[in-house]
Amino acid sequence: MVGGPRVSVATPRVIETTVGTSPVTVVIGRGVLGEVAARWDAVSPGTSALVVHDANVTRVAGDVAALLDHRGTRAVRVDVPPGEPSKCFAQLERITRAAAEAGVRRSDAVVAVGGGVVGDLAGFVAAAYQRGVALVQVPTSLLAMVDSSIGGKTAIDLPEGKNYVGAIWQPRLVVMDLDVLDTLPDRELSCGFAEVVKYGLLESTDLFERVAAWPALPGDPVALADLVADCVAHKLRVVTQDERESGLRASLNLGHTVGHGIEAAGEYSRYNHGEAISLGLLAALRISERMCGLDPAWRTRTADVLRAHGLPTSLGDGIATEDVLRAMGRDKKADAHALNMVLLHAPGKVVLRQDPPHDMVVAAIEELRA
Ligand SMILES: NC(=O)c1ccc[n+]([C@@H]2O[C@H](COP(=O)([O-])OP(=O)(O)OC[C@H]3O[C@@H](n4cnc5c(N)ncnc54)[C@H](O)[C@@H]3O)[C@@H](O)[C@H]2O)c1
Ligand SMILES: [Zn+2]
Repeated sequence: MVGGPRVSVATPRVIETTVGTSPVTVVIGRGVLGEVAARWDAVSPGTSALVVHDANVTRVAGDVAALLDHRGTRAVRVDVPPGEPSKCFAQLERITRAAAEAGVRRSDAVVAVGGGVVGDLAGFVAAAYQRGVALVQVPTSLLAMVDSSIGGKTAIDLPEGKNYVGAIWQPRLVVMDLDVLDTLPDRELSCGFAEVVKYGLLESTDLFERVAAWPALPGDPVALADLVADCVAHKLRVVTQDERESGLRASLNLGHTVGHGIEAAGEYSRYNHGEAISLGLLAALRISERMCGLDPAWRTRTADVLRAHGLPTSLGDGIATEDVLRAMGRDKKADAHALNMVLLHAPGKVVLRQDPPHDMVVAAIEELRA
C-alpha cells in the first residue's frame, strides 16, 4: 500500500490516491463541475472527449461539454436511455461505434455523466474502446457518488445475470458536484443513503453517529460534502488494499448478501437496490448479534435512521423467504457454493464469515416481517 488516500479537509474536498498503478483524484463539493476541465491535462493528452450521459441529466452533460469545448477539447456527446436495461451489448455497440465515427482516439477520454448505470456502461466503454482509454466519472446520483463511481468496477448485464461482462478500469478523475443532486428524485436520494448507512456501520461509531443524526436529505451541502468524502475515503482505503476483491473488498458487501436476495426475489421491481440493501443491512445486523455478539441497540438505531429517510425496514407481503434464499443460492438443493457474509462485532469492527447456519439466515429474513 502506498500510504492510503490523501484527503483534504477544506471544501471542495480533494482525495488523491493510487489504486493498483492508477492515480485517482476525487473532487467533492458544490459547483465543482469546472474541475473536469481544470484538471483535464492530468486526464488525457488527446483532443476529444466522449461524453456519455444519462438522458435525465442532459443539462449537466451540456455544461461538462461546454466546459471542455471552452478549453479546446472537442466534446462528442452520446446520450443513454435511463434505467438498468441500458447496461447491455446494444448500448455498448452503439456508443463505441459513435465514438469510432466521431474519430475518438486512444489518447482521448470517456466522461461518464449519470448514475451507476451510465457509470458502469461508459466505464466499460472506456475499458474496451481501442483497448482502453482514460475515464472520468461525473456521478449524478448519491449512490454513484458514494459507491459506483469509485473502485473501478465497470460492467454490462446479461439476461443470465447482472454485471456478467465487465472489467476493472479505474477512473483518473471523479468530480462530484453536489448541486446536481437538486434534480435527483427523493426515492433515489434515499437509496443512495442506504449505502451511506452501510459506510457508517463499516467505518466507525463516529461516522455512524453522524449518519444517524442526519436531518432530511440532502441536508447542509458542506456537511454533505464531508459525509460523501468520508464514504469515498472509506471505499478507497479498502479498494487500494484489495482492488480485485480477493478479501477485504468483500467487506463493502455488508447488507448485500440478503439484500441482493430480496432485490432478486422482488424481480428487481418491488424494491430498488438501496431499498433492498436497507432490509439486507438489518438482516446482517441480526445475524451479527447471534454470531458476533453485536449489541442489538445498533440494529434498532440503524432501523430508525433508515426509516427516517424513507427506506423500508420490514419485508412486504408477497416476498417469500424461499425465493430470497433461492436467489442467494441457499435453497435446499443448492449448497454448492459457500455463503459469505459480512458481519459486525460493532461499528467499524468487521468480520467476514462463511456459511452462517441456515436456520439463522432464515430467521433473520423472517424477522424482517415483524
Ligand atoms: N461499479 C460499482 O462498483 C457499482 C456499485 C454499486 C452499484 N452499481 C451499479 O449502479 C447502478 C445503480 O446506480 P444508480 O442507483 O445511480 O441508478 P441509475 O443510474 O439508474 O440512476 C437512478 C435514476 O436517477 C436518474 N438520475 C440520475 N442522476 C440524476 C439527477 N442528478 N437528476 C435527475 N435524475 C437523475 C437516472 O436517470 C435514473 O432514472 C446499477 O446498475 C448497479 O449495478 C455499480
Ligand atoms: Zn449496493
